[in-house]
Amino acid sequence: MPASSSIKLNTGAEMPTLGLGTWRSQPGAVEHAVEYALKNGYRNIDTATAYGNESEVGQGIKKSGVPREEIFLTTKLNNPDMGRPKEALEYSLKQLDTPYLDLWLMHWPAPMTKEGGADKSIDWLDTWHEMEKLYKAHPEKIKAIGVSNFSVEYLKRLLSNSEVVPAANQIELHPSCPQQEVIDLCVSKGIAVTGYSPLGSEGAPLLKNPTVVKIAEKYGVKPGTILISLQANRPNVNVLPKSVTNERILANATIIDLEPADVVELNQIAKTEPFRACHPSWAGWGNLGFTESV
Ligand SMILES: NC(=O)c1ccc[n+]([C@@H]2O[C@H](COP(=O)([O-])OP(=O)(O)OC[C@H]3O[C@@H](n4cnc5c(N)ncnc54)[C@H](OP(=O)(O)O)[C@@H]3O)[C@@H](O)[C@H]2O)c1
Repeated sequence: MPASSSIKLNTGAEMPTLGLGTWRSQPGAVEHAVEYALKNGYRNIDTATAYGNESEVGQGIKKSGVPREEIFLTTKLNNPDMGRPKEALEYSLKQLDTPYLDLWLMHWPAPMTKEGGADKSIDWLDTWHEMEKLYKAHPEKIKAIGVSNFSVEYLKRLLSNSEVVPAANQIELHPSCPQQEVIDLCVSKGIAVTGYSPLGSEGAPLLKNPTVVKIAEKYGVKPGTILISLQANRPNVNVLPKSVTNERILANATIIDLEPADVVELNQIAKTEPFRACHPSWAGWGNLGFTESV
């Protein structure tokens, strides 16, 4: 499958395949990263209230000079805000200084207290129903709603009990965490999949994986290109590499077509070296339906 340049959401909107991630970007660095990425061709920016950087992301967008309507902007409802999605939406719009979001995601199906524990008084499905209501009532503020970190089990519960099919499910995706069963369900239901931590997250550990390095040498590209292209070569999948470093932001925008045999070999990595950068148990709700092995 040749790499896509954009994928079509179930709303009809096009979402660019390549997006800039902004998690763990140091204060002061992310504004420049967003500005630089947009000035150099990126048109998809991912942030979240939990990252504490929506305001800087908004400033970076303004400084880039790229018109808002040319940018696909995603942010996420924070776990401690799951009992007050309306207020959280207004907060995100204000911080980002934008009239609308292209995609508003439930960050995790895991309501939490402000102190950081699981908030068992809230059911995430009720929160999703509130997000549905806001989406229907305010199309001028929310162009699409979706989810993040939803396993097959949780997606099935949502789909059986909701009116709006999520436009996207943002999940961890890289050769050590291929999550094919989640992708298969999403594709069968017309839900786009956005892959996060494509390089293995902080410090990009997968850049040193011998299989990735070998395949990069074969194509004459950097290992990061192989990891980012692996996701971009999947139908209905897009990808969010994060960097605050100019040359890496540029390098990460190179996407190539991979031969099927190389995709198969890359997907074997999970058999011997499985890992998750973001284990769902951090939120205090157990494994959220994801398998324990990865
Ligand atoms: N929905 C969720 O729960 C969730 C969870 C995790 C991530 N995400 C999203 O997905 C984005 C990406 O995931 P991630 O940030 O975990 O990890 P990632 O993109 O896999 O890796 C980021 C790390 O790789 C480094 N890096 C980037 N490009 C590089 C290159 N070409 N060569 C060498 N090192 C490179 C970055 O360093 P520098 O920045 O210092 O250059 C940073 O340390 C996040 O930023 C966020 O937007 C979402």
